[in-house]
Amino acid sequence: MSAISSSSRALHRLIYASRVAIPAADVEHEVGAIIRASIRNNREHALTGLLLVHDGWFVQALEGPAQAVMERYGRIVDDPRHADAKVLAAGPAEAREFGDWNMCARDMSAADEAILDALALRAAFQPAGLSGPSALRLLRAVRGIQERTQLSGLG
Ligand SMILES: Cc1cc2nc3c(=O)[nH]c(=O)nc-3n(C[C@H](O)[C@H](O)[C@H](O)COP(=O)(O)O)c2cc1C
Repeated sequence: MSAISSSSRALHRLIYASRVAIPAADVEHEVGAIIRASIRNNREHALTGLLLVHDGWFVQALEGPAQAVMERYGRIVDDPRHADAKVLAAGPAEAREFGDWNMCARDMSAADEAILDALALRAAFQPAGLSGPSALRLLRAVRGIQERTQLSGLG
């Protein structure tokens, strides 16, 4: 195996923030369509991740083989359902953080918003200004909510 091909397969994570560009009445339907397409495509390319939809913003983590992450991001960024995408973090990752989901979307309910308080993000949710580590902390917190909600749903 050459060094180049092994690095193109090494685990990478990319996190970006973008503005939702979908009429409010259509957001739920469109996010559902995005998730269905994502699960289909991401499974095929060994991509996993989490998509947060909150207050007019998307924040998404995509992780998987470096080349697959960059190619998929290249397509996502051209999607007219969002705008002003800004990469907050991109680089090699030691392990998957969102390995349970080929893609999972999470909206923040009023109760969940306590998490934004804890992260000092609530007053003005401006994820495009987050550092890479802060963006990862935010999505990890969202992952925690998602896991707890799924568990309570099973009970
Ligand atoms: C915020 C956002 C996140 C998206 N995330 C993904 C993703 O993780 N995987 C994916 O395949 N498509 C994602 N999409 C959809 C892509 O932009 C594109 O519509 C899709 O990959 C094309 O699917 P197709 O190859 O079945 O036509 C996303 C779109 C938006 C607006």
